[in-house]
Amino acid sequence: MPNKTPKQLAREARAAHKENVRTERHERKFVCDESAQNRSWREFFFRNPLVLNKEYNKRWNQSLPQYIWNYFHNKTFFKSITWMGIPVRKSIFDLWVYQEILFENKPDLIIEIGSLYGGSTLYLAQLLEMIGNGNVISIDLNHENFQAQHHRIETIEGDCSEESVIKQIKSKIQNKTVMVVHDGDHSEESVIRDLSLYAPFVTKGQYLIVEDGIYDLFNPKKVSIKPNQRGPLKAIRKFIAGHSNEFIVDKEREKFNLTTNPWGYLRKVK
Ligand SMILES: C[S@@+](CC[C@H](N)C(=O)[O-])C[C@H]1O[C@@H](n2cnc3c(N)ncnc32)[C@H](O)[C@@H]1O
Repeated sequence: MPNKTPKQLAREARAAHKENVRTERHERKFVCDESAQNRSWREFFFRNPLVLNKEYNKRWNQSLPQYIWNYFHNKTFFKSITWMGIPVRKSIFDLWVYQEILFENKPDLIIEIGSLYGGSTLYLAQLLEMIGNGNVISIDLNHENFQAQHHRIETIEGDCSEESVIKQIKSKIQNKTVMVVHDGDHSEESVIRDLSLYAPFVTKGQYLIVEDGIYDLFNPKKVSIKPNQRGPLKAIRKFIAGHSNEFIVDKEREKFNLTTNPWGYLRKVK
């Protein structure tokens, strides 16, 4: 790999500094004081429980990482989450954030990579219906299990990186404000490939949302993670390093802290 020029290094340093400032701001606004939490944790157990009800005391006594891991790894639970009866593979906290983003930005078109059953596709389409603007194009390798039906939904079957798929997308985006949601193949190489193909479609002010970086946060010695699940977060970091003048990581969108998309809300600024 060629050595970076002083200009590139300076640009990366500036971008890293801006990221730190944003992270600190996020922590001031949305993260509780951990030392206070630890104090209350001890009191919780030994002297003065915060929750007096025995049943809920036990349930709420799990740590936040345990809770999040259970949310995604307890298949019975995760698979039970539906939107209008169709399975949706997202955190409900993120779905709320999607709603805020869509209402604020009112995109003409959302390109969704990875439809699966279509719960997320229908969710997006129904939000757009309420907003009164926009359509969803949802791409998947196959739509055998796809159950969503809505006049704002169009599907494309195929690998999102195939030229024929990209060609179809290009023919549909002219003069539209476009947002992209990546929830396809989560391996690092595929995410990088897809981001480089689809980021140019995102219009200024809209979002490129990259799902499931959460798997990169967990310790593989503690929890079993399939190799192809790890990657989105690494891919985002690499992508941002090369596109910091175009995209910012919008940490404000992680305000619930229970996101599955760490660094996953990328706003196009240029
Ligand atoms: C995590 S699921 C999508 C979940 C869905 N968005 C939801 O929230 O309910 C991932 C989907 O991406 C699809 N997929 C994987 N690689 C793909 C690719 N290269 N192009 C298009 N779709 C792909 C898979 O077939 C699978 O249905």
